[in-house]
Amino acid sequence: MPEGFSARGLFDIAGRTIVVTGGAVGIGKVYSKALGEVGANVVIADIEAEAGKALAAGIEAASNETGGHAIFVETDVSRMAACQAMAQAAVDRFGRIDGLVNNAALYAKIPKRKNWEDIPEEEWDRLMAVNLKGIFNCCKAVHARMRAQGYGKIVNISSSTWLTGTTGRLHYTTSKAGVVGFTRSISHDLGSEGITVNAVCPGLTKSETIGATMPESHWQAREKKMAGTAAIPRVQMPEDLVGTIIFLMSSASDFVTGQTIACEGGVNHL
Ligand SMILES: NC(=O)c1ccc[n+]([C@@H]2O[C@H](COP(=O)([O-])OP(=O)(O)OC[C@H]3O[C@@H](n4cnc5c(N)ncnc54)[C@H](O)[C@@H]3O)[C@@H](O)[C@H]2O)c1
Repeated sequence: MPEGFSARGLFDIAGRTIVVTGGAVGIGKVYSKALGEVGANVVIADIEAEAGKALAAGIEAASNETGGHAIFVETDVSRMAACQAMAQAAVDRFGRIDGLVNNAALYAKIPKRKNWEDIPEEEWDRLMAVNLKGIFNCCKAVHARMRAQGYGKIVNISSSTWLTGTTGRLHYTTSKAGVVGFTRSISHDLGSEGITVNAVCPGLTKSETIGATMPESHWQAREKKMAGTAAIPRVQMPEDLVGTIIFLMSSASDFVTGQTIACEGGVNHL
């Protein structure tokens, strides 16, 4: 162990400023709340203004107990100018940006599954603009600040579907495969600047949004399927992802970069 090394505080992210895109609803809301609970300054960047403002107010209201703070910044990640304004708002309020969780995506709101040939060009373009270009935009927007600090933690949310493929969502699955390639490549660009970039692949997760798009019978069938194919035989919940996000936002992961971590209960993809 290098002289002076101490493991104390390795997982402590209190006081770190972390942007969560798509952080107002769904799984992102759970990330935002959890990061506030462990004392981070959370920048909730989303298009859902009402939900985002209410969530930020809730995190602020608990700050005497948690030490966490939050602001909501209305941000369409597909627009570079909006991402730059969001990063500026984060710096204006908290003085720095330590982490970025690129979670925003078109997912629950994808128009229903369709044969690949029936996906309209505009639907394909919009999905790529949010799910892939949005990540590029947000990385660019926070980069100058992270480089100046000589430190930064970026997590890009992919999906286990990029490994398996799925029917009826060619554009979504393709975008999530792109997230993995993006992550691996940009990690080489940013490693010497002290910035780590990793991807996290959730399995099908019963978030408040996705949960509501599928009938309860679907989730019961999913529970059975997990019992037959996964190491952990139950449906995945958003909270199952929180520990991995905190690890990747903390100093405990400072030598982990360019990696794709499947957080999905050990599903057997063979
Ligand atoms: N729920 C699952 O089963 C599952 C599985 C694998 C991966 N994921 C991924 O996890 C993430 C969250 O999933 P979810 O279940 O909460 O889905 P969701 O569709 O409910 O959440 C997407 C979030 O992104 C926001 N958003 C959409 N367009 C935006 C834009 N242009 N700019 C900024 N924000 C925008 C939404 O408002 C929402 O907060 C997504 O990246 C999704 O692809 C989810």
